[in-house]
Amino acid sequence: MTVDTARFATRAVHAARSRETASSRATPIYLTAGFEFDDFDHAADHFSTGTGFGYTRTGNPTVRAVERQLAALESGADAVLVASGQAAVATALLTVAGAGDHIVSSTHIYEGTRGLFLDNLARLDIETTFVDDIADADAWRAAIRPNTRALFAESLANARNDVLDVRAISDVGDAHAIPLIVDNTLATPALLRPLEHGAAIVVHSASKFLAGHGSVLGGVIVDDGRFDAALSGHNAPHLVLPGRGDAPSVFARHGGRARIAYARESVAPRFGASPSPLNAFLIGQGVETLGLRVERQSRNALQIAQWLQRREEVESVDYVGLPSHPDHEVGTRYLEGGSGSIFTFTLRGGLPAARRFVEHVRVFTHMTHIGDVRSLVLHPGTTSHAQRTEEEREALGVRPGTLRLSIGIEDVDDLIADLSRVLHNVRETVA
Ligand SMILES: Cc1ncc(COP(=O)(O)O)c(C=O)c1O
Repeated sequence: MTVDTARFATRAVHAARSRETASSRATPIYLTAGFEFDDFDHAADHFSTGTGFGYTRTGNPTVRAVERQLAALESGADAVLVASGQAAVATALLTVAGAGDHIVSSTHIYEGTRGLFLDNLARLDIETTFVDDIADADAWRAAIRPNTRALFAESLANARNDVLDVRAISDVGDAHAIPLIVDNTLATPALLRPLEHGAAIVVHSASKFLAGHGSVLGGVIVDDGRFDAALSGHNAPHLVLPGRGDAPSVFARHGGRARIAYARESVAPRFGASPSPLNAFLIGQGVETLGLRVERQSRNALQIAQWLQRREEVESVDYVGLPSHPDHEVGTRYLEGGSGSIFTFTLRGGLPAARRFVEHVRVFTHMTHIGDVRSLVLHPGTTSHAQRTEEEREALGVRPGTLRLSIGIEDVDDLIADLSRVLHNVRETVA
């Protein structure tokens, strides 16, 4: 019996079978749970060596194409794509740390990541020490313990727009054979490539600038491929010791790429935050215009920050592109071609003014997201930073009148007109 002679229900599920190979210029979307094996030995080979594609949770050609694209843009050796930025951060940390280990992290990080450290990793007996003054290399050094397995920071942080001196802090890590993991979500590889400045691993929320259009979630881990067993093996026994059943170690099989191989083989598929091939495609397509978008967004953001700085309703503007920002000099050293699109500013009228502001924007959208083609606004004090104490918020630059903007690619005059109208309204009603 062939499919043609089979009954209706059988024909419905078997008649469409894509066996052609064609050179699609755009990345094809392999929206499939798994892949047919050529024969008996092919299946056995796949399970013993991990080569080729068997099941989408462990590998998929669309996902793989986007991983190569992102590794190339971050100047990395290889990348693993996962379902969200949080999955990327968790995967990176669980690749380097286990029970009984310790991590040193910047305080100026996304609240979800801070929660991961404080609640989830703590329950797995992975302890974190936070560094407030991330420019102080001695503070990072002092926090390191014999069981420290990673330093973690964001290259460009929200809310104060602090810029990490990647070289200085990766040097601190290198002196102790500890990798620096950098969340590069806000800067993007269009402005800054931390692996070129000594970081070992980069993570992203691909949901933001990489995908760029606010339609999908994703995350990526990019590794420099320079794991050195002689230098760092004592900090990574899971990479250098034989595997279960005396299997060759990850390092023996993958050399300098041992870390990312472990993330791909052991962490990402087992914890299971696999990306949909469709989302991978949309991220890859977004990345193709990343440079154009970030260039325009940075230009718009600078113009808006300069405009806000001149307004009497505005008390302060925390944008690293402004010479008045404390990290402006570090920013000019690290950020190429712009200072990004996300920053905060503080209204003189406090909470009532901030409420008024978000309630009256029309071109800006009020939502919790960043890195979109559309301009967005959020009140951090009552949302993203609500779980911090008032003291912590003050130290992080989040006051009652502070608003976060994520500037999009619209015509800047329309954005400024929207802000001008809203500030007029704020002044009239809060005065
Ligand atoms: C800097 C940073 N890292 C990680 C994340 C988490 O990413 P996702 O929402 O894709 O899980 C976010 C989300 O806002 C973020 O801003």
